Amino acid sequence: MEITLESPLDMHLHLRDGDMLKLVAPLSADFAGAVIMPNLVPPVTEPGAMVAYSERIREAMGADCEFDRYMTLFFTALTEQQLVLAQETPGFFGLKLYPAGITTNSEGGVSNLAEAESTLKLMEEMGIPLLVHGESHGFVMDREAEFLSVYRNLARKFPKLRLCMEHITTAAALELLDEFENLCATVTLQHLIITLDDVAGGALKPHLFCKPIAKRPGDRDALLQAAINGHPRLMFGSDSAPHPRCKKEACGCAAGVFTAPLALPKLAEIFAQHGALDKLQGFVSGNACRIHGLKPHAKRVTLHDVPMSVPSLYADYGQQVVPMYAGEEISWSVKA
Ligand code: NCD
Ligand code: ZN
Repeated sequence: MEITLESPLDMHLHLRDGDMLKLVAPLSADFAGAVIMPNLVPPVTEPGAMVAYSERIREAMGADCEFDRYMTLFFTALTEQQLVLAQETPGFFGLKLYPAGITTNSEGGVSNLAEAESTLKLMEEMGIPLLVHGESHGFVMDREAEFLSVYRNLARKFPKLRLCMEHITTAAALELLDEFENLCATVTLQHLIITLDDVAGGALKPHLFCKPIAKRPGDRDALLQAAINGHPRLMFGSDSAPHPRCKKEACGCAAGVFTAPLALPKLAEIFAQHGALDKLQGFVSGNACRIHGLKPHAKRVTLHDVPMSVPSLYADYGQQVVPMYAGEEISWSVKA
């Protein structure tokens, strides 16, 4: 069995910077492009820094690799003039809003949403998408559910704003998605597969620890069903979030699962297992292109049911990062 995907996109990707960028960027090269997260230190808040970062990514991908970089700015309250400047900057995709302190490098995020509203109004008028890390500061298992009322209020107040719920992890978020036409969502690989039990039910698995934390079996099952049934406003966003091995295998483990190098093979394996390979193109590209009006460059990637061994470690440039399924086999792979 095999499937050829046209221009697969990763709608939520962390590529980091410096040596880690050099190590991980080429590992996303089977994708035609990705939405690049801005949570560097310091975060990418200005078009100039965004262009420079995009250029560093281009260099890190390698000269012969064409990769569409849909760049985001870390949300700060912006004036109309600043938004116009962003929109006129090549490669600009949208703004990513983090509640202050909610995840890795988000200390400079939003603490009072009311102060963001004038910017949101402008974004609505200008057609700039808002990507949101939707978690409250409540109990860790309830953070996404508690944030749904914020999404609901935003969706009502700004009915033309393209509002993307990033890395959703609950059945409740899917229900909300169906309530509002102006909502869309990304979902990661790991949240289609694992629950909290896989993270902390037995021996603690630091490499499966991420924000939002994996939830209950019913949540995972609902997300998987939505993906394999071809939900039209659900898009693949890996949220592949590499951290140095020493920061994961540590007391005070950093949040993030590194999935970029195995995401497409594992997705093909899952969709094939469920007899849903015909839905994979929409999930990894078609929905995103339709929702956001993207026109990625033409790139074909063929996946087949020939096993791949996932390396136990990716190491180069003095960096080490451990992928999901390290040292294990996946029953699909990219055909050379
Ligand atoms: C991400 C990171 O490490 O940058 N971590 C994560 O657990 N997903 C940030 C994020 O998307 O929350
Ligand atoms: Zn992320």
